[in-house]
Amino acid sequence: MPSNISIEGSKILRVPKTMDVEALKQRLNGAGQGHLLQFWDSLSSEEQTAFFNELSHMNFEEINGFFETAMQSLKHVADKIDDLLEPLPADVCGSVTRTDHQKQQEYTATGLQAIGSSSVAVLLLAGGQGTRLGVGYPKGMYNVDLPSAKTLYQLQAERILKVQENAKEHTGKSCEVPWYIMTSEHTKEPTRQFFASHNYFGLKESNVVLFEQNLLPCIGFDGKIFLANPHKVALAPDGNGGLYRALRSSIVLADMERRGIQYVHVYCVDNILVKMADPLFLGFCINKGANCGAKVVEKGFPTEAVGVVCKVEGKYQVVEYSEITLPTAEKRNSDGRLTFNAGNICNHFFTMDFLKMVSDPSQESQLKHHVAKKKIPHVNAAGEQMKPNEPNGIKMEKFVFDVFHFTTTFAVWEVLREEEFSPLKNADGAAKDTPTTCRSDLYNLHRSWLQRAGATFTHNDGSPIPPIASSNSSNAGAGDSQRTCEEFNEIVCEVSPLVSYGGEGLDTIVHGKSFLPPVCMERDGAGKVKVTNGTS
Ligand code: UD1
Repeated sequence: MPSNISIEGSKILRVPKTMDVEALKQRLNGAGQGHLLQFWDSLSSEEQTAFFNELSHMNFEEINGFFETAMQSLKHVADKIDDLLEPLPADVCGSVTRTDHQKQQEYTATGLQAIGSSSVAVLLLAGGQGTRLGVGYPKGMYNVDLPSAKTLYQLQAERILKVQENAKEHTGKSCEVPWYIMTSEHTKEPTRQFFASHNYFGLKESNVVLFEQNLLPCIGFDGKIFLANPHKVALAPDGNGGLYRALRSSIVLADMERRGIQYVHVYCVDNILVKMADPLFLGFCINKGANCGAKVVEKGFPTEAVGVVCKVEGKYQVVEYSEITLPTAEKRNSDGRLTFNAGNICNHFFTMDFLKMVSDPSQESQLKHHVAKKKIPHVNAAGEQMKPNEPNGIKMEKFVFDVFHFTTTFAVWEVLREEEFSPLKNADGAAKDTPTTCRSDLYNLHRSWLQRAGATFTHNDGSPIPPIASSNSSNAGAGDSQRTCEEFNEIVCEVSPLVSYGGEGLDTIVHGKSFLPPVCMERDGAGKVKVTNGTS
């Protein structure tokens, strides 16, 4: 490798041997970004070196091109695309509620077989800034205050350990599910330190692979790039669709190939119920011969603010609620279900070949940036830090699901919201998707597992706690999946992922037993399951 190239995460930084500031000035002036050097003379020599290096590896022509396209697209944000929308063809869809038990077992066996052959990887999108939750550290490090105090990262690590164990039991072979974690400048170091300080939660260090996504400058409506401070450009991650560019420029694809990975489960960090490398979902997609798949939940009501998976002009796509009119959102089939009801939960299946194909520049460059008007803190021409109250510019992001466009063999698997989707988006106090709702949804799910395994629950006074109705049963509707935490939050029930991945294996432990909440099931170092309940 030439000595002037250093590789840091996914970025290749070319560090020039000498600082030709004049040439840089000319390049910036040529691109209309000359103002970036306005504080140059007042910078210390360290600041100058760091800033020079930052600016030297930016492609301003490309960035200006992105900006032009982004501003064009803003003119069409209010456009509706109702006429172009088609529902998903029935033959690509499957549903946990409409697939018989035997078929589900077949899918699960296929998934476990793939995991057992060490041909499955999980890939976590964790480069977001978690602005809505408002914590200064990566969201995966968040502890929603379960009795175990496990963070989102720990729950996910333990689910990997358990699914490896389940696959081994199924195939008789030891296997490994590598965990690729896409971070960004803001999340990489704290994430690395967190895993190291927790001994990778029992996973092999070599199976936890961190890589870094790219950043893009934040730009004012006039096309001028903002400065975060006199010697640093204001940057933001390039969206979770930055995955494909990051894959291309990092060692990840090569590492996957070296390990013989064939299938990748991609998911987002904040869903406390996420089933990583879910054998059923994997098996469904594999049996369908799909190269790309999405797990979805039924949209709760027409105006729910989730993107829906559908077809647009013959291509698969996720369409936002804001892109269609109310009558289209309200459209129903003869069975009463919403026509466009496949709510995206950021859980995707890709074959290795598909990932390689969409990460190629010829495909990846076709993915358009989505543009958001934002209030961007910056330093003004007088060197003052500004915190605007109104949007003053744009951030540009690619979305992970935009590659659906490239598939001709798609698969969509619908699951129950109460079993698989409870995201942490907001701080407590918000109406939904908070630490409290995540905790409550996890308790409800785990209590339903124990009840299904033959356990009962009682209140302090000995009176029975009624079982949770599942929306899998015929008398329940979409409304049941919108249970509020007030309804159940006093009934604490936490099952460690090391004890059960999805409710399996609990019968022999709990059948015929009665529990007084709080109930906690954990596995000790020797593999023995310990149940605590009541005040014990
Ligand atoms: C996302 C989905 C949305 C879905 C919802 C379900 C996308 C673009 N949108 O929305 O359709 O209904 O989840 O919860 O997928 N991330 C990065 N890099 C970035 C930005 C985000 O890795 O530059 C990661 C985040 O860390 C997170 C995931 O992508 O793990 C989703 O990002 P977030 O901003 O939370 O997406 P939502 O708007 O909630």
